[in-house]
Amino acid sequence: MSAQILDGKQLAAALRQEIRRDVEELRARWGIVPGLAVLLVGDDPASQSYVRGKQKASTEVGIHSVVERLPADLSERTLLERIDHYNEDPSIHGILVQLPLPPQIAEDRVITRISPTKDVDGFHPWNVGRLYSGGEGFVPCTPAGILEMIRRNRIEISGAHAVVVGRSGIVGKPVAQLLLRENATVTICHSKTKNLEFYTKQADILVAAVGRPGLITADMIKPGAAVIDVGITRVDGRLVGDVDFEAVKERAGWITPVPGGVGPMTIAMLLYNTLWSAKRMGN
Ligand code: GUN
Repeated sequence: MSAQILDGKQLAAALRQEIRRDVEELRARWGIVPGLAVLLVGDDPASQSYVRGKQKASTEVGIHSVVERLPADLSERTLLERIDHYNEDPSIHGILVQLPLPPQIAEDRVITRISPTKDVDGFHPWNVGRLYSGGEGFVPCTPAGILEMIRRNRIEISGAHAVVVGRSGIVGKPVAQLLLRENATVTICHSKTKNLEFYTKQADILVAAVGRPGLITADMIKPGAAVIDVGITRVDGRLVGDVDFEAVKERAGWITPVPGGVGPMTIAMLLYNTLWSAKRMGN
């Protein structure tokens, strides 16, 4: 039997509708318009395209978005000053510095300069800590999008064995933590894991987030599993995931396509985080 396709494009559109309604209510009731500042340093084409997508989606749901495009030779000091400016600006509820940054700028100094109360990416150590300690804070957008997708498709997390392949700070580690919080038994695999398929074959929920096209093949899957593909690699101008989609979909219970799976959810969760931030500051 063929797997059910987890359509991120459709789900993200539904989420954006919900967010748009909430944004409108916030404005009508309290006169608050959520504001998002995006800082883009340099002219990397992929980053430019992501930022355009974020700006378009923000505007569509009624979020006020400011995009600052800064030159590639920008000094770290100037970038930190721009962050300070938005930290102080009461009309801005979310600040996002698009990564990667040019080599003269230290990523960690930039991330820690963003006020944790405006860190809609959830990358600040304060928010990372909150995720692990169980408190309230911003959850990084891609892991949050994955969880939303699993929940809304009523895939059972509690008691499931979730196997996460990849241990990045942006996806692997936080998604493992979110699944653990939802009572999954979690295994994290990575590039040094011996006998990867020993683990993947046990997964009721498999999250692949390494960026190696075709790494996960059909023989590595437990029949009926939920397979979430976070990998996006450009191969001959096409976006390719970590999962051999055509073969795996014949064995899995659920599967995300690439593109149109996790990707659209990431932006929807950024909008959600910005809305949440505005609601919280308004209170
Ligand atoms: N570059 C690629 N993905 C991301 C992301 O989620 N946030 C930021 N700030 N930069 C990115």
